[in-house]
Amino acid sequence: MARDPQVKRDTAFQMAASNIRFGRGITHEIGMDLRDLGAKRTMLVIDPALLPLSPGQTVVRSLEQHDVGFEIFSDVSVEPTDASFRAAAAFASEGGFDSVVAVGGGSAIDTAKAANLYSTHSGDFFDYVNAPIGRGLPVEGPLKPLIAVPTTAGTGSETTGVAIFDYVEKKAKTGIAHRYLKPTLGIVDSENTRTLPPAVAAASGLDVLSHALESYTAMPFNERPLPARPLERPAYQGANPISDIWALRALELTAEFLPRAFHDPTDDEARAQMLLAAAIAGIGFGNAGVHLPHGMSYPVAGMVTQHRPTGYDVDHAMIPHGISVILNTPAVVRYTSSANPERHLTAARALGADVRGAGPADAGEVLAARVIEIMRELQVPNGLSAVGYTDEDIPALVEGTLPQHRVTKLSPRPAEAADLTELFRQSMKIW
Ligand SMILES: NC(=O)c1ccc[n+]([C@@H]2O[C@H](COP(=O)([O-])OP(=O)(O)OC[C@H]3O[C@@H](n4cnc5c(N)ncnc54)[C@H](O)[C@@H]3O)[C@@H](O)[C@H]2O)c1
Repeated sequence: MARDPQVKRDTAFQMAASNIRFGRGITHEIGMDLRDLGAKRTMLVIDPALLPLSPGQTVVRSLEQHDVGFEIFSDVSVEPTDASFRAAAAFASEGGFDSVVAVGGGSAIDTAKAANLYSTHSGDFFDYVNAPIGRGLPVEGPLKPLIAVPTTAGTGSETTGVAIFDYVEKKAKTGIAHRYLKPTLGIVDSENTRTLPPAVAAASGLDVLSHALESYTAMPFNERPLPARPLERPAYQGANPISDIWALRALELTAEFLPRAFHDPTDDEARAQMLLAAAIAGIGFGNAGVHLPHGMSYPVAGMVTQHRPTGYDVDHAMIPHGISVILNTPAVVRYTSSANPERHLTAARALGADVRGAGPADAGEVLAARVIEIMRELQVPNGLSAVGYTDEDIPALVEGTLPQHRVTKLSPRPAEAADLTELFRQSMKIW
């Protein structure tokens, strides 16, 4: 489908900065940070698996040492749901907190963002949820200070204004996206990923790869419609010259260090560089957006019935976020490469592919081959069929992708239902 020439296109993009402190062994500083922010009573949102481990214990000790009052909320769901977001919001509203701390992966950090939003601005839960599932209203004003301490090298949620949840009734993932959701500070400390199971390192690391690859190949910001007011310019603005820098560097770091971090969790340099890559990719995609692989991943994750991933402490079927995204990626890059072959080749080179002699017509295949090579090295399931889907599920997967406009509209090449059908079909078995 061609883009409408009558629609006025945007001419600007906005880089919303993220405040990150990176260093080994810095988590103990958090009590001082909260004191400096004037915090007296903090809601500590923590993944229960992390509470007895070093990241949780270090944060609790620091809050105690610096006399910051706190209450623990550890009812965090791995891959949160509308119910778990609401439970955190209710706890936050009743607790009279002046600040929020998040310790964990994307699941804990996103839960903390929701708790902060709904305890600061009243309104219906779906007011701020992305349209068309929610009303997609912009957040009216700043939230309470939120300090995020990531324990996975993955989502970059410590840098973004995004909180993702599974809307269980609709079997679809969606989220809330606004700059005001961004953490006040991200404490990025590689000591905190020391206990990460290799399968989680792989899945969350592939999320980093996907964030960088999709933001770099997304539709350019100046092809998006012009918003009526600056407040309506979305966080996901399309590829732009600043996000490109972050995306390419994150691809290089991921190609070099993710296999090392996966094979050897005691490799301190690899773990540190992956945590840095996650934050770097987060700053890039947080201002540019992601596209088809993420849009397609939401029904893939939401409709799961049987897959039980190793390394994840859950009592129900699930497909880890990074896996649900990467399984769509080879088919998508073959499809989108004709829209901007040079970018697909540049991304392949940043991921370590040998692109000598490759021309525009080869770009999709070269990039897909390199992504598949990395997937195989990280022992990723071979396609959607390996996580429980068959061709009969494709119509429902397509139905579940179509409402994800917020991200799918950033595809450099538009994808209608028939295109998505073919992309899901090609993603059933990848190699
Ligand atoms: N907000 C954003 O910008 C953004 C971006 C991408 C994804 N997400 C969302 O984030 C969620 C996924 O987050 P994730 O990939 O970081 O994983 P996660 O937070 O779901 O954690 C995965 C598993 O690893 C365990 N774990 C985490 N850190 C550990 C550690 N250091 N040691 C031992 N175990 C540890 C957890 O207990 C859990 O079992 C999904 O809901 C996804 O949709 C959000």
